[in-house]
Amino acid sequence: MENKKYAHLVKPLSIAAMPGSERAFRNTGNADINLWLNGRDHLEGLELNFSWGFYTGLGDWHPGMDPHVHPYPEALVFVGLDPDNIEYLGAEMQYCLGKELEVHTFDKPSVIVAKGGVLHCPSVTKEVLNPIGYSFFILSLGAEPRTTWMGDGISEEQIRRMQEIASSSKPFMVSTFSKKRYHVSPETMTYSDKHAHLIKPLKLLPRAAAEKDMMIPGPGNADRLFWMTGNDLEGMELNFTWGFHKRPGLWHRGPGKSDGAHFHPHDEVLVFAGTDPSDINYLGAEISIDMGEEHERHIIDKPIAVVIPKGVVHNPIITRYVDRPFAFFMISLARDYEVTWCSR
Ligand SMILES: [Fe+2]
Ligand SMILES: [Fe+2]
Repeated sequence: MENKKYAHLVKPLSIAAMPGSERAFRNTGNADINLWLNGRDHLEGLELNFSWGFYTGLGDWHPGMDPHVHPYPEALVFVGLDPDNIEYLGAEMQYCLGKELEVHTFDKPSVIVAKGGVLHCPSVTKEVLNPIGYSFFILSLGAEPRTTWMGDGISEEQIRRMQEIASSSKPFMVSTFSKKRYHVSPETMTYSDKHAHLIKPLKLLPRAAAEKDMMIPGPGNADRLFWMTGNDLEGMELNFTWGFHKRPGLWHRGPGKSDGAHFHPHDEVLVFAGTDPSDINYLGAEISIDMGEEHERHIIDKPIAVVIPKGVVHNPIITRYVDRPFAFFMISLARDYEVTWCSR
């Protein structure tokens, strides 16, 4: 593996496991477990940080700390874990947006778009309906996770702990604390629809659309797929997919029944994630992906992110076997997905 040209682009999600990091955010509503990769330490310097985690608990995710802001735009993606029903979230969420602390609720797979400087959270899990919980991932357009916390319920001890993290050599998040603080209570929250458009139900990609782009789905592909483009995301330089894969086989062919090898004018990250909340390091499948014009083959048998810098040829992707349906999301760092097919 060491001698392979593209091995450095294949990143097990477990490289982001940091003992002690969970102490900063451990609250009932927050993730039971999550992994958070960032461009600075894990993703070849991309202006991206993303998380992946499993959630079963009720309540506020960061009590007393919110609202918060980032210097970069962020997409917050809530998805379910039923591979037979992609449209089922299995949870009821309450979410505040804007300095008005405007309250919204939703219970379908959705993405919340918070552009740089837009106040967001608290995020409160009101109900979990799927016995195994739901999943959530952040897609943030900054190489280094940075948050300014604006809640008035942060203790001095919390501030000290988070400043310690921020001053470490590779902080998983650089936290700062705003002078202006907000108090969150039923009296200070507001009930309007000024920010309602920032919560967007995930959109299914019609199969016909995939075929129109000459990406012909194969048996290894997801039956149904959410795909949100920059136009769906307030103009973010981001488009992403989400789906479950259950069967072995080729994921897709390109035009003329080519094997699907292609490249993009934008950077892309392919995330292969498991769906077993009891083991975030279990994928339950074995998949091969070819990298480069030389078709250098890599095997994916645990949760992995594959970084595809712009211009680098990749694919086909072939699922070799599936023990448990797994999840896949593509993070494409452009408003619109653009592809050039290779012929072979
Ligand atoms: Fe955020
Ligand atoms: Fe691609």
